[in-house]
Amino acid sequence: MPNAASLDLLTHLRELLGEAHVLTEGDLSAYEQDWRKRTRGKALAVVRPSKTQEVAEVVKACAKAGVSIVPQGGNTGLVVGGIPDDTGTQVLLSLQRMNAVRAVDTDNLTLTVEAGCVLQNLQQAAEQAGFLFPLSLGAEGSCTIGGNLATNAGGTQVLRYGNARELCLGLEVVTAQGEVMHSLSGLRKDNTGYDLRNLMIGSEGTLGIITAATMKLYPMPAVSLTAWAAVPSVACAVKLLGLAHQHLGAGLTGFEMMGQFALHLVDKHYPHLRVPLWQDTPYCVLLENSDSESEAHARERFEHLLGLAFEDGCVSDAVVAESLSQARNLWHIRESITLAQAEEGLNIKHDISVPISSIPNFVEATDALLMREIPGIRLVNFGHLGDGNLHYNVQAPEHCDTKAFLRDNEDRVNTWVYQSVKRFGGSISAEHGVGSMKVDSLPDYKDPVALALMQHIKRALDPQGLLNPGRVVR
Ligand code: FAD
Ligand code: MLT
Ligand code: ZN
Repeated sequence: MPNAASLDLLTHLRELLGEAHVLTEGDLSAYEQDWRKRTRGKALAVVRPSKTQEVAEVVKACAKAGVSIVPQGGNTGLVVGGIPDDTGTQVLLSLQRMNAVRAVDTDNLTLTVEAGCVLQNLQQAAEQAGFLFPLSLGAEGSCTIGGNLATNAGGTQVLRYGNARELCLGLEVVTAQGEVMHSLSGLRKDNTGYDLRNLMIGSEGTLGIITAATMKLYPMPAVSLTAWAAVPSVACAVKLLGLAHQHLGAGLTGFEMMGQFALHLVDKHYPHLRVPLWQDTPYCVLLENSDSESEAHARERFEHLLGLAFEDGCVSDAVVAESLSQARNLWHIRESITLAQAEEGLNIKHDISVPISSIPNFVEATDALLMREIPGIRLVNFGHLGDGNLHYNVQAPEHCDTKAFLRDNEDRVNTWVYQSVKRFGGSISAEHGVGSMKVDSLPDYKDPVALALMQHIKRALDPQGLLNPGRVVR
């Protein structure tokens, strides 16, 4: 039951936003439950502002009442960072109504959008203007650009275009005090002091609320071709990546690796997708070659590369998509792994990176350790090999009680995987962020001086500790 101060705050918020946009009753699970359905919180209220000034007023009202705020975009985050805790005292601030494309500027190659704009809508706005916005991930139909920036999202085109941070030129942000930082200039060069934009990006709603962003546009490639290759080992996949960099140059726009069990899950749960080549090989690789000349040129380069890879023995079989719909299906298979894993049952998720050259040894050592410690464990290993980023996930042995398995094993599996990542000089979060899922592990894996500086920054920008508390740093 909210106390008197909370009731006063709710009245104030209703005055600011209108009854319809301060939700306290009914089914709020879309806002209160995380995408993986592992955690459910309870908000004091879900508020849905429609403009920057309203966000600022909400922040001021909450600061005055000493109530904390959890910003939320599409709620597709995978580290439990965008839902309220279970105290019923936090305000969940959804940016979904702030979804306008403010400007498409083809002279300066920029696109300015509100934070709640769904990534796919942003991609389409770019395409309608004849340009490419290259951020691309499986959740693009529901994640928002604000969430992408707050998590510094990666996805499948990072090896060519970079992650969300590298695609952003400017931000509009509401601070913890309810002031608006207007930095949407879109300048490509601006060395006038500390880089506050890059500080906000990846801060997961703990330093400010992103209300709009100016993003970079790129020329649309004339053609993109997709190939699917069976590789005999992880080391062969890494070898193929090297060859692809060498022979496709900047044309290499995607390089994803998928383990056999990950593809088995897609085949089992989505048989209509017809996963190719997976049965007789431990790993498959999805490659994309984008070309500014012509399809014939792209195909010739791809075939040359695959010919060399066959000769070398690092590819055992391969297909190049003959049509756009075939290429889309191959990408759809890759992007269905997360959903197929969810269909199979609860699982332990990892999003790690190590230097690309260490990936074969990391996988070999970690596979052996986990399989020795937990016989029958099923490893769902896939991800953005081109960025040294794997989703090295763990599914319970078949026919076991999944809840009991997670209760008894999740912490120790995380420790084994994270220790292995540390040994190979990697990171325990490559692209999904820290959220509340990894906040207590971070001190063991982050440089202590870097962590202390992060804590200082948090206290300086949000002295009351009201923006997404308990996430990223404590
Ligand atoms: P939310 O989940 O709503 O929020 C995420 C975090 O950002 C929270 O901490 C929240 O408080 C904060 N936040 C949200 N909006 C704002 C804002 N406007 N201002 C300040 N803070 C804010 N991620 C990848 O990096 N690469 C992938 O390839 C990828 N693939 C995915 C595939 C699937 C099927 C799914 C379900 C998820 C995937 N993700 C991936 C994870 C997720 O989609 C990204 O983290 C995405 O960037 C989150 O965006 P969102 O709008 O859903 O944010
Ligand atoms: C992906 O690459 O598909 C995503 O990051 C989602 C996941 O890790 O499951
Ligand atoms: Zn990913």
